[in-house]
Amino acid sequence: MMDFTEEEYKEIAAQLRKPEGEFGEIVAEKMNDGNLLMNKNTIKALDISEGESILEIGMGNGFFVKDILSSANNVKYIGCDYSEDMVRLSENVNQAFLADGSALFFHSTANKLPVENHTVDTLFTVNTLYFWEDHSAILSEFKRVLTRKGRLVIALRPAEVMELYPPTKYNFDFYTKQEAAELMEKHGFKITEIQEFEEPPVEREGKSFNPKHLVLISENNTA
Ligand SMILES: C[S@@+](CC[C@H](N)C(=O)[O-])C[C@H]1O[C@@H](n2cnc3c(N)ncnc32)[C@H](O)[C@@H]1O
Repeated sequence: MMDFTEEEYKEIAAQLRKPEGEFGEIVAEKMNDGNLLMNKNTIKALDISEGESILEIGMGNGFFVKDILSSANNVKYIGCDYSEDMVRLSENVNQAFLADGSALFFHSTANKLPVENHTVDTLFTVNTLYFWEDHSAILSEFKRVLTRKGRLVIALRPAEVMELYPPTKYNFDFYTKQEAAELMEKHGFKITEIQEFEEPPVEREGKSFNPKHLVLISENNTA
């Protein structure tokens, strides 16, 4: 993997936060490769049942929607992303699912979801926690849309891994496993399981390391 200038890393960081335009399209495709294992492991951890309604925040270009919809019969998927371009790409990639009514995409931020109260069985998000600006607003919005016993699943690479990726010095927030779990618990989600996965080695700026990712599974803990 080639090295970039600091200006280029800054631009890549901005695109990872909110992919837009032609470069955003390229970055979104790269993410599908770089985060493939993470997305597959997260979808497996969702353990989707027949008829479930699933909401994803930050689906990028929607490449993994097919894996969610093929997990069980009669699954309903909604994807929300605050990048208009990612919503458009997701709709292009998933035209067949739009046509048969199994998928819908919305241009919206995580703290203002165009979804009715208590209608979502499972809400999940992969690689977005680093960018959340208002945790309380986002997590209370998640509680609003989740059913009383709904599940929230958050997947991330932990702080000790994220800090090894050069672009993350530009405006990313890092979380250890404990910090991410505490954040969810503090906002009324009960952690039921944390899965940890080692990834194959990658090289950045001449250093080789093994990334890992975490999948935190929780239940809406509303009485
Ligand atoms: C780093 S990319 C991850 C894409 C994909 N989930 C993956 O893991 O490969 C982050 C995605 O989440 C979206 N995103 C980040 N923060 C968001 C927020 N607060 N509300 C809605 N979308 C958000 C971005 O636009 C982008 O498409």
